[in-house]
Amino acid sequence: MAENFNYKEAPDVRMLGEGPKPEPPRRTFLFWLGAGINVVAGLLIALPIIGYVFNSWRGTGWQKWITLGKADDFPKGETRLATFVNPFRVPWDGYTADIPCWVRRKDGGDFTVFAINCTHLGCPVRWFPESKLFMCPCHGGVYYADGSHAAGPPPRGLYEYETRIVDGQLQIKGGRLPSLQQTA
Ligand code: FES
Repeated sequence: MAENFNYKEAPDVRMLGEGPKPEPPRRTFLFWLGAGINVVAGLLIALPIIGYVFNSWRGTGWQKWITLGKADDFPKGETRLATFVNPFRVPWDGYTADIPCWVRRKDGGDFTVFAINCTHLGCPVRWFPESKLFMCPCHGGVYYADGSHAAGPPPRGLYEYETRIVDGQLQIKGGRLPSLQQTA
């Protein structure tokens, strides 16, 4: 009977000259697993907050000069739709980074470029050359050809972009969505 006993398979038995068996590392493993999960969860919560706080430091940085095209391509006395790509686009913006605006070239040649967003709740306004009015499809807001408020709920006229001509190209200063606090 004694000669069939296997010392190596017996629990808590050490052979002569062997050191103590290491403690099973389960408790240590669970400790570090818990710590790791806490760190990851903390980062996931903190990153958006840090981004939000540091983002506000950019102040008026969300504005850039954007080329709309050759100034001569916009006929005098007409209002045309133009589109530009948001200079602060990120890959997942997709088509939403393509921003339309209304370019009005007066008879004298001066430009006024309007943001397409209605100043009421931001719907895109349309230009009707027959009536020479901008109209908003959402709640009936109406604007005159110079962008001033004509009728309906909008609290003010259309937002205007700052414009300039560089080497014959019409440029506007844009990037962020205009709002009542930060007009275009
Ligand atoms: S969003 Fe244009 S009138 Fe309301």
